Amino acid sequence: VSAATYNWNVGWQTENPDGLQPRPVIAINGQWPPPTLYANVGDTVTIYLKNGLGNETTGMHFHGLFQNGTASMDGPTQVTQCPIGPGETFTYTFQVNQPGTYWYHSHNGGQYPDGFRGALIIHDPSIPYQYDKEEVLVLSDWYHSQIPDLIPGFLSTTANPHGAEPVPNSALLNDNPTTSFSIRPGKTYLFRIINVSNFASFLLKFDQHQMAIIEVDGVYTVKQSTDLIYITAGQRYSVLITAKATAPGQNYAFVGAMDPDMFDCYPCSNVPLNATGYLVYDSSKPLPNSEPTFPSYTSGFYDDFSLVPYDKQPLLGPVTKRITFNVESGTYFNQNRFAINGNSYVEPKVPTLYTVLDAGHEATNPAIYGQYANPYIISHNDIVEIVVNNGDSGGHPIHMHGHNFQMVERSPPFTTPHKYSGTPTTTPPATPVRRDVMKVQASGYLVYRFRADNPGVWAFHCHIDWHLTAGFFATIIEAPLALQAQSIPANHIQACKHQHLPYRGNA
Ligand code: C2O
Repeated sequence: VSAATYNWNVGWQTENPDGLQPRPVIAINGQWPPPTLYANVGDTVTIYLKNGLGNETTGMHFHGLFQNGTASMDGPTQVTQCPIGPGETFTYTFQVNQPGTYWYHSHNGGQYPDGFRGALIIHDPSIPYQYDKEEVLVLSDWYHSQIPDLIPGFLSTTANPHGAEPVPNSALLNDNPTTSFSIRPGKTYLFRIINVSNFASFLLKFDQHQMAIIEVDGVYTVKQSTDLIYITAGQRYSVLITAKATAPGQNYAFVGAMDPDMFDCYPCSNVPLNATGYLVYDSSKPLPNSEPTFPSYTSGFYDDFSLVPYDKQPLLGPVTKRITFNVESGTYFNQNRFAINGNSYVEPKVPTLYTVLDAGHEATNPAIYGQYANPYIISHNDIVEIVVNNGDSGGHPIHMHGHNFQMVERSPPFTTPHKYSGTPTTTPPATPVRRDVMKVQASGYLVYRFRADNPGVWAFHCHIDWHLTAGFFATIIEAPLALQAQSIPANHIQACKHQHLPYRGNA
C-alpha cells in the first residue's frame, strides 16, 4: 500500500480551448487542461484542495469511487460536506480499491463545466487484458460563457418558455479542437474514454479501426467489439484498439460528435458539433481529409445494455426495497425545473450527512431531512431496485454515488410517457452490465439494482449539469444507523463556518 498525495490550488485563469473565444476557466495549480489524477489499486489518495478562486466556494467529487467507509469524502456540497470557502484548504483522503477509469469534478453550483474536471485513472497490476500503451481521451462540450451567466436565462419561464438547455459552442477532444495519438504498427492501445460534458452525449468512431470494449465505468467487461460508441455525460469506456499490422503509409481520423438530437436548435447550423482527431502512423504524411461516417441518427440507438461484466456477477434478487422515481419537467418555484415525485430538489441548510450523524435513532425518519432534500432511506444490505420513470421528452444520464448498478431493464424511447409496469417485459440479463451512469430514454423507463452494502448519503441525479441545477436530484440515505459509526474530520467541520456564503456568490 502506498500513497498518492496531491496539493491542488484551484484558481481562475483565461483559456481559449476551441480557439474561438478566450474566457475564464477554473485551473489547478495554474494548469488547464487540468491534470490527470493517477493512483494504483490499494493506494491511499490524499488531496489538499486549496480554494484559490477568490470569489466563490468550491468542492470536489471523485466520480465512480464508492467511498466505502469514507462517506464524508464524497464531495457534493450540502450532501456530504459544506462548501470550501475562498482561501480555505480542505483535505480529501481515502483508499482506492477500484481499478479503472473515473474522473474528478467540482460538485458545487454548476462549477465543473467551467473547467474544474479531469481524468482519474486507477491502475491495476492484474488488469485482465494486455496492451502496449495507454491513452486518455477526454470528450467535452464547451461553452463560451461562464455557467452562472447562463443559468438564469435557462431557468426563466418567460425568456425560455420551452426550458431549452443552452447549446454548447464547441466539442473538444482532450480540451482542444483536435488531438492526435501517435500509433505504431502491430501495437495494441488502451484508450480510456471519458465524457466530462455538462450536457452533450457523444458518438465516437475511428476510421477503419474497431474498438474492443473492455471496461465501462470501472467495471471490466467481456471484450465486445464495436465501431461506434455512444457515451453520455459522466460515462467512461475503455477500449482496445489494435493498430494495423504493418505500416499503412497513411494516417486515420476519428470523430467525436455531439448527439444533435439533444439540442433544441437542431440542426444547429452555426455550432461545430463534431471534433476530429487523428491516429498518426507516419507524421511525414498528411492528416487525412476523409472522416468516418456515422449511421443516420436514431434516437433509440444505444449499445451498452448487452455488455457482460467480466466477473459475471449474477442478477441480484430478490428485491427487498423498491424506490420509484417519477421524473417530471415543468414549472416549480416559477422556474423551468425538474421534480422527482413532485419535489424539485433544494439544497438543505446543513449537509444531509451531518444531519444523519447528529440525529441518533431519529436518523431513519425521512421527515427530519426536509421535503426538498428528496430523502429516501434504505436499510443495510437491502437488495434495492430503483425505477426511473422519465416523464420528460428528453433522455437523461442517470447517476448515483456510492455504488455501481445492475441494469435490469431499459425501455426504448417513446413519444408519450410510459411507466414501468413492475414486471420486466423481457427476461433481465443473467449477468447484467454494471455501471454508474445509465441513460433513460425519452419518455421511457430504467430499472436497476444494487446491494446496500455501503452506508452513506449518496446523491442521485441527472448528470446533465443544467438538470441537476434545476432540481433533478434526490438523496439516498443508506443504512443511517450503521453510518453513525463514521465521523467527520475537523477540517471538514471548519468549512461550515462559511455556510452563509451563497453557492457561487461573492465572498
Ligand atoms: Cu459525476 Cu454527482 O457526479
